[in-house]
Amino acid sequence: MGRSMGKITGVWEENGELAARIQCPAPGVPAPGQYVLASDPADRAAALPYRLFPTAIERDGFSAGPGLPRAWLPGSVLALNGPLGRGFALPEAARRAAFACLDGSPARLRPAITTAISRGCAAILFSGGLEGALDRWPNALEVAPLESLPEALGWADALALAASPGGLAGLRSLLGWGAGKRLPFPAQVLVDVPLPCGGMAECGACAVRARRGYRYACRDGPVFDLDELEW
Ligand code: FES
Repeated sequence: MGRSMGKITGVWEENGELAARIQCPAPGVPAPGQYVLASDPADRAAALPYRLFPTAIERDGFSAGPGLPRAWLPGSVLALNGPLGRGFALPEAARRAAFACLDGSPARLRPAITTAISRGCAAILFSGGLEGALDRWPNALEVAPLESLPEALGWADALALAASPGGLAGLRSLLGWGAGKRLPFPAQVLVDVPLPCGGMAECGACAVRARRGYRYACRDGPVFDLDELEW
């Protein structure tokens, strides 16, 4: 889509931080795992655009957050750049999908979960931080503590993760696995890193260690096949 204008049509609190719904033209709505760079033209103090991962997707807009700037209010106009990057593409044949948020907000996984459930896939989310916020999640979703993720490995036929590079570095220890062991089914990970240059792959801030060198999350991700990366 490229550049467009959006408007905040609602804000709310999630885990004590701001989340918002943003109305925008349909081609500007990101797919699950993609991102949009947003800036408030009235905020001259903001040096960099804010990266938004969708947490709910509609035809004429999307939700994002928690963690949005407190100055964003209903009616605020945003300059948007996107959708950008590569989103989730779990196998259509998957029937038992596990989702896990290794750190940060699990809301970034919500559109991928909603898509999987709408295809008739059973879904379970392993995460902390869900207390009191389950009203925004599909009723068919099961939830479990992150520590029980190893138990899902005999059940699932696909896995989607969200993690910072530090969180991803802890996955092997969470699973109790040594170096080199690989998952027996497709797995993808949304790597949450700063994305300041909007997919130009020029600043290097989003570099992620891969099995062969580095990949840029802004251009090659932010969703990667897990086995592309060093973990
Ligand atoms: S955000 Fe600048 S290279 Fe990726």
